[in-house]
Amino acid sequence: MDRASGASHTFRASPNLALVKYWGKSDRERNLPATSSLGITLGALETLTTASLAPARDRIEIEGKVADIARFEAFFRALRRKSGDGIYYTATSRNSFPTAAGLASSSSGFAALSCACAAAAGLSATTEELSSIARIGSASAARSLYGGFVSLEAGAEHARQLFDEEHWPELRVILVAVNSTPKETSSRGAMELSRTTSPYYESWVSSSRASYAECVRAVGHRDIEKLGTVIRQSYLRMFGTMFSAEPPVIYWQPDSLRVISLCEELRRKGLQAWETMDAGPQVKIVCLAPDVETIRGAVSALDPSWNIMISSAGTGPRELFAGES
Ligand code: PMV
Repeated sequence: MDRASGASHTFRASPNLALVKYWGKSDRERNLPATSSLGITLGALETLTTASLAPARDRIEIEGKVADIARFEAFFRALRRKSGDGIYYTATSRNSFPTAAGLASSSSGFAALSCACAAAAGLSATTEELSSIARIGSASAARSLYGGFVSLEAGAEHARQLFDEEHWPELRVILVAVNSTPKETSSRGAMELSRTTSPYYESWVSSSRASYAECVRAVGHRDIEKLGTVIRQSYLRMFGTMFSAEPPVIYWQPDSLRVISLCEELRRKGLQAWETMDAGPQVKIVCLAPDVETIRGAVSALDPSWNIMISSAGTGPRELFAGES
């Protein structure tokens, strides 16, 4: 077979938003997480990636722009350990939401890429194997290989599904993109700086064990208040390691804080509105379906120009089509 031609494969994957966060690596070489995380796969958001085999080198285009391949080298090395040396890939990828702005586009991106490349190479890989390959690109991507509620435990090579997408039908996530320009500090750089310079890093790692266990229980019992409390604990402790790094990493913007304060105010009024944030200024609010419109209305009243997206739990990656390239 001419390895530079053959079928192209298109996969759809959704980002996985951490309720309890992964932040810091226990093994940088293998990209293993130091903390256990539990995330929800956001079905309403999608990355579409088409891959086929390439003649001599790997090439990735994201949103129509050629990406710096250095960011993908370790991922492709891991893939070639399965597919064989001398096999190269070309892929194009598009997101239905802002890219590299703290909306977990790297989780859906590497998940879709690992599925599409494996299919292009004719690999019969299990979901666990794909999750493990995706993890090399971005540890949160290991979780995006599954739908529903997904964990990636500290030191684990692949993620696993704890509850499927039907488990908690009322749960919603309201994503508030207060600023959609790509971030300046990558999550990779920021977590390494936290690990090496924050005096709070060790406490973050040890305290996140209890947060993770509590989160598994809260999701299992569909207890929004318990879940919200642990979500808040996890993201604020994670940011504690960033604020205390040297130099500090501050992804928050004034508008992020306005949404955080709004959630506090809504909770004082008895609404279950629990915010979380990742490596960017966007705020995601975890809530229940009957409260979505009230919360969305209150957020839009702060600034009608913000891009607001709403999602429930969705499925893992799906192949959309395969064709001759
Ligand atoms: O997987 P990365 O390198 O994009 O890091 C993800 C870090 C957080 O989004 C902040 C937390 C998480 O568990 O997704």
